[in-house]
Amino acid sequence: MKRLNNHRAALLIAGLVVSLAVLVGALTAPPGLGAADRNPDGSYTGTKLEGTTPAQWRLIWEEDPAHTATVAWTTAKQPEKSTLLYDSEARQGDLAKYRFQVDATVGQYTDDEIHTWYNHAELSNLKPATTYWFVMVSDNTASREFHFITAPEGDAEFKLLYGGDSRSDRDARRTMNRRMRTLFEEDPEILALAHGGDYVANGEEMEDWDEWLTDHELTVTAEGRMLPVIPARGNHEAEGPLYDEVFNTPGKKDGNFYRTLIGEQFLLVTLNSNISAGGNQADFLETVLHENEQVRWQIANYHRPAYPAVKSPGSALEHWVPLFEKYNLDIAFESDGHALKRTCAIRGGKQADDGVVYIGEGGLGVKQRTPKDDRWYFKGGVAASTLHVQKLTVKKDSLLVESITDEGKVRDSYTAKPRKR
Ligand SMILES: [Fe+2]
Repeated sequence: MKRLNNHRAALLIAGLVVSLAVLVGALTAPPGLGAADRNPDGSYTGTKLEGTTPAQWRLIWEEDPAHTATVAWTTAKQPEKSTLLYDSEARQGDLAKYRFQVDATVGQYTDDEIHTWYNHAELSNLKPATTYWFVMVSDNTASREFHFITAPEGDAEFKLLYGGDSRSDRDARRTMNRRMRTLFEEDPEILALAHGGDYVANGEEMEDWDEWLTDHELTVTAEGRMLPVIPARGNHEAEGPLYDEVFNTPGKKDGNFYRTLIGEQFLLVTLNSNISAGGNQADFLETVLHENEQVRWQIANYHRPAYPAVKSPGSALEHWVPLFEKYNLDIAFESDGHALKRTCAIRGGKQADDGVVYIGEGGLGVKQRTPKDDRWYFKGGVAASTLHVQKLTVKKDSLLVESITDEGKVRDSYTAKPRKR
């Protein structure tokens, strides 16, 4: 009898554990993705890659996000035709009702073992600060309806996320993706994520990108709003073609450096620390900073730090920092070290009130290291070992950068005031 009771108790506990797992899975998966997107225990597994079902979707911003964007997705089979249907009104997925459409470019990802297909739909002539509703259609298979909001024009106030190094620890990456989704849902003024590179451990293996792209689906809000990505190339993406196939070659091929204007008073320069920092790229940086001298907020995003928290400085220190200082850049976002950092304001290799501040170091999932917090430039700054994402609040009279942990706590905040330009 006692043995029977023990057996019943064990069954009851097992039942409770399974129910709890299903409940947790249901709470953490974006609703509306369907039963096929769940593991048997209820946890999120991503849209299944089969046939021409659009999966692994992402939305990419490049130079002019008030008027252009790329929606990209993956299909297991080569579709005969892929199209993005879109409209400035919600159509609940009723394909006949969307007023606009654009055909996607289809190609096979470069990989020896995995033979899947990318689909890139380039949108242009969009209206600024406008919500666009869309479905991805490959042959006869359509996605659910998603939406996104284009960047504003004029002297606008808005918010952005910044983060890097989402590689190598899938559980932590999913935690950070859910954190970004929560921030995005709580704060609809967030427009996009600037990513600082090192998405995956091996950027030349589609297997790694498959996992990253599937996990990226978790950044979509419950209502289906997609978080645009403004990508930078990291050293783990190496020189490989997959980065360009995933993100539709941001910047020029073999360069991947470009400038993004959000409104008329916010300049984001994305650089590639994986190729020569001098030469063409330094010329480009000088030209962009010179042409936008009067823009109120000036920001850079690149992977390998000039003022690192863990490793030694990259060639950004020699080639880019003098230009940042000449043109009075406000903040340089850096990744790669796997720690949270904010330096003091730096000019000419010393603390200076009118200097440039370096923030970031990569906390979107990779295991965090212990930073070298005794480096001189952390006096008056911060160096810590914690997963994190930065939230930027861009206003006319201030630019606030909050470093938010995986648990949603603000670990550090920094406010820049407009410079005299
Ligand atoms: Fe790196």
